[in-house]
Amino acid sequence: DVGPGSGNRLEAIRSTREFVTGVRSDTLGYSQDYLGPLLRFRRGQTAKMDVTNRIDAPITAHWHGMHVPGHLDGGPQLAFGPGETWSPELPIDHPAATLFYHSHVHGRTADQVYRGLAGLIIIDDPDIDVPLPRDYGVNDFPLIVQDRSFDGAGRMTYDIGMMDLMQGFHGTEILVNGAIRPKLTVPAGLVRLRLVNGSNARMYDFSFTDGRTFHQVASDGGLLTAPVSMTGLRLAAAERAEIVVDFTDRASVRLVSTQGGSGMMGGGMMGNSGMMGGNGGMMGGGAEGSPLEILSFEIADARNPGPARLPEALPAPVVDLGEPVRRRDFTLNMHAGNMMGSMLNNLIGRDGQIMGINDESYDMGRIDLQVPHGETELWRINADMSMHPFHVHGTSFQVVMQNGRSVDPARIGWKDVVHVQGPTEILLRFDKRARADAPFMYHCHILEHEDVGMMGQFTVL
Ligand code: C2O
Ligand code: CU
Ligand code: CU
Repeated sequence: DVGPGSGNRLEAIRSTREFVTGVRSDTLGYSQDYLGPLLRFRRGQTAKMDVTNRIDAPITAHWHGMHVPGHLDGGPQLAFGPGETWSPELPIDHPAATLFYHSHVHGRTADQVYRGLAGLIIIDDPDIDVPLPRDYGVNDFPLIVQDRSFDGAGRMTYDIGMMDLMQGFHGTEILVNGAIRPKLTVPAGLVRLRLVNGSNARMYDFSFTDGRTFHQVASDGGLLTAPVSMTGLRLAAAERAEIVVDFTDRASVRLVSTQGGSGMMGGGMMGNSGMMGGNGGMMGGGAEGSPLEILSFEIADARNPGPARLPEALPAPVVDLGEPVRRRDFTLNMHAGNMMGSMLNNLIGRDGQIMGINDESYDMGRIDLQVPHGETELWRINADMSMHPFHVHGTSFQVVMQNGRSVDPARIGWKDVVHVQGPTEILLRFDKRARADAPFMYHCHILEHEDVGMMGQFTVL
């Protein structure tokens, strides 16, 4: 379902899909019943896209993580209606990376992405020879991990209450590439997994059931400078990581997440909430401490055409951002302005904008920042309670401090989402421009938070 696409034509459609055998769920997709085809681009090419809207609501196609100017970025200002086609020509000027695309209509993003308007992008760099497994579907697999809920009849549901709004929606089932807890057949030897957290809100702490060591080789924006060895990997919503796993021992293992990962209480609370048991405990009851099952591996006899060993260094894009020339502060607010007033307003009002950044809810008509082109800045992000994956459009950034601790940007790599729980600092510079009519966004990537106003927008001129 996420196999290489045919051409660069996407059609947003309404469809149905049998997630549960014999039961059709209502879905959305780009050119298919759920999610969209893999878009595979080569650095240096220009990708001519045609995106047609065949549903009954406005959509966009945002190329998450890609470095393109604002008018090609597919943000909320670029929404287009039923019957319309948007035809951006994307100059592919991005190092080899695993990115994704999704609809980004303000107030509808969570619902549209949940139902399926998202897909994977792989960028290849023909000038760089990366000694990693790279035979798609043979030893190189994308894994789009999402959580979804199903009613008693097995139909996918998305019902949002106030708790879901506060914590972000957490589903009762784990889907990988649109299938519930599937099995993946891999060859023995080194296998590359491109992990994409495609959930609306859930955070995962990935590991293998036998506790094996694996290596991270890339993060959101592309390759790391060297493989980093680990036994567990945390990905918040919209974060990506490429890992290489050694299946030489042919042991049958499963990929799990050791925590339910709520947006609110550090993971404990969601695991115990009644929501998890609502589906007959299909996720293993969700008791605290019992890992979420994600994917099981089966080792095939097929020959693995990839390298036998991991290289010591990787050809990561090296960019020295230098010293920042200015600093900006962002505080992610669970409530913008007066809490009770906002909540009442949300219950009875029309716009439902209750969260914000720096005490203001997103307003499509207001430019929050004007960022000069080509200058390095330090952005300091804080969360007034809870935790939030903070995302910036238009560039990749380096994390220098995360949750109060200074970190080594080289081990973290180029990012476009950072998980913020405490004081976090990122270094960034914009080389693409965005005018006021199609600005770049910064926002929480818990899509329910984004939709109720935890987003701002900026020009780069
Ligand atoms: Cu993944 Cu503003 O988006
Ligand atoms: Cu984005
Ligand atoms: Cu948030």
